[in-house]
Amino acid sequence: MKFIQKPYVIIGSGIAGLYTAIKLSEKTDKEIVLITKSDLRESNSRYAQGGIVGVLPENTGDSVELHVQDTLKAGAGLSDEQVARFISERSADAIKDLISYGVEFDKHKDQKIELTLEGAHSISRILHSGGDATGKSIELALSCKVENNPKIHIYRKTQAVDLLIDSEKRCKGLIVFDKTRKEYEVIFSSAVVIATGGAGQVYGKTTNPQIATGDGIALAYRAGAVIQNMEFIQFHPTALNLEENGSRFLISESVRGEGARLKTPDGEYFTGKYHEKADLAPRDVVTRAIFFEMKEHGYDNVVLDTSKIPEEKLKTRFPNIMKVCREHGIDITKGSIPVSPAAHYIMGGIKTTVKGETSLQGLYAVGEASCTSFHGANRLASNSLLECVVVANELAVLLSQQHAETSSSSADCQIGCLISLYEKNKFEYKRSIQTLKDTLRDVMWENAGIVRDKEGLNRALQVLNDIKLDFNQPYKCRDAEEYEFRSLLTVSELIIRSALMKKESRGGHFRDDYPEPLPKAENSFISKDSAFIAGNCCDRPEL
Ligand code: FAD
Ligand code: SIN
Repeated sequence: MKFIQKPYVIIGSGIAGLYTAIKLSEKTDKEIVLITKSDLRESNSRYAQGGIVGVLPENTGDSVELHVQDTLKAGAGLSDEQVARFISERSADAIKDLISYGVEFDKHKDQKIELTLEGAHSISRILHSGGDATGKSIELALSCKVENNPKIHIYRKTQAVDLLIDSEKRCKGLIVFDKTRKEYEVIFSSAVVIATGGAGQVYGKTTNPQIATGDGIALAYRAGAVIQNMEFIQFHPTALNLEENGSRFLISESVRGEGARLKTPDGEYFTGKYHEKADLAPRDVVTRAIFFEMKEHGYDNVVLDTSKIPEEKLKTRFPNIMKVCREHGIDITKGSIPVSPAAHYIMGGIKTTVKGETSLQGLYAVGEASCTSFHGANRLASNSLLECVVVANELAVLLSQQHAETSSSSADCQIGCLISLYEKNKFEYKRSIQTLKDTLRDVMWENAGIVRDKEGLNRALQVLNDIKLDFNQPYKCRDAEEYEFRSLLTVSELIIRSALMKKESRGGHFRDDYPEPLPKAENSFISKDSAFIAGNCCDRPEL
């Protein structure tokens, strides 16, 4: 095993990780290590379609106040107003910054930025790029900057597998697994940033790519950090009803923003029965509307009717969606796309402040892996990319102001003991991980998905416990896939336990046995060392 020391380590090369690295490099002369378990450009970020929220001064009619109100309304009582205002106020500068890094947002003929509408927004305020390839454009611009930055040292195909926590609960570095050479390395650092994204792969149906296995949330939980609101999962209403490589292609909400409507395969437009905003109601509402229609009538999917959108508009606004649908024999200009809901985003995660501080000294988190309380119980469309860049910027300022130690901590008995567990082999299980993974993802979809109840959640917990009898590998695993499965198990358990504790329905958490919200909205917190704590979040989370 190799041992090295670095001032700053960022785990993850999505928009949150890349942006943190770039911003930090502008403020320090020290080396920054950026670790990513796949290719530099593979991430959830890369697949973002709809766009990024920007409250732009030239968009008369929009304001920070209006965006904050939309965010709070979608968040169903759990978005923190101060956090929402903090992020919204910084959105125009964040957009300017992205443009200065080379992101080209789509413009009208008169060179004004084009803005679109998505569900639960009161006004068009979403910037997009390449029509429906916003994530790809941003990810490309940022990753090129990172690749050309001599201060940033990239570790590709390298997976973070454990955090080093000393006896005083401070993060002192991490253990990584080099997937190509199948070797471990210990990196001592007093500033470790988790930017590992979401956990959609917990579910059998998801818009998230293979990398989204919740590793960072699982690592932080194992390390003793406080984790927040894990019961709140966003299921996107309109994924293409076809499975490929374990995920489903997204049909952006902005297609509805441009005028498409949902109907049953029998031709009934149904969303108006569920909400006054019909097809542009908050995401959780539209998803449940589809779920109930599919269940009641036994449909495999519903249909997105694009016939009211002019063909020319479809071609320029949604070139990527058009291309992928065509590859599957669907011509979107003919007006009907088969869609159904799929797991899309996790509102919960590692509890942080808006500067990315977690409850553990030396450990930071940003992006989808974190929970700043911006999104509450249900994220407003296109608010995620905005949160990534605003919080990454704050975090970079904070890190640059702190003293970055690089001393080795292997003398600490807790850290020494953990490292020794990665030096031994102890493999006793036989079943293939793929079978266990399929079982887990199916059981989570069926029992801890869009509509839950006590019985189903307990059934899922039982299956999880059975799986653990076959796969009980808390430390060293045989390969990268097993480490990901270890994360999926941890995150699934956190979702189930949080959902069991939450005896109400709110936003992305709907319980059939408690279909109404309680009068008082409460966040839920969990850490390895303590039971659930309910209550409103404080500025600096404490164990
Ligand atoms: P990610 O972009 O997921 O990046 C995580 C990174 O961490 C990856 O590089 C991954 O390889 C790496 N990683 C993970 N685990 C490890 C490990 N153990 N070791 C090393 N590296 C690791 N949001 C919007 O605001 N607007 C949109 O239009 C939009 N559209 C979306 C469309 C789709 C199909 C999807 C899936 C999501 C969409 N979202 C959208 C959500 C948004 O894209 C994500 O929330 C956001 O991009 C997350 O960014 P991130 O940097 O936190 O994580
Ligand atoms: C979409 O384009 O529908 C996804 C937007 C988001 O997840 O914010």
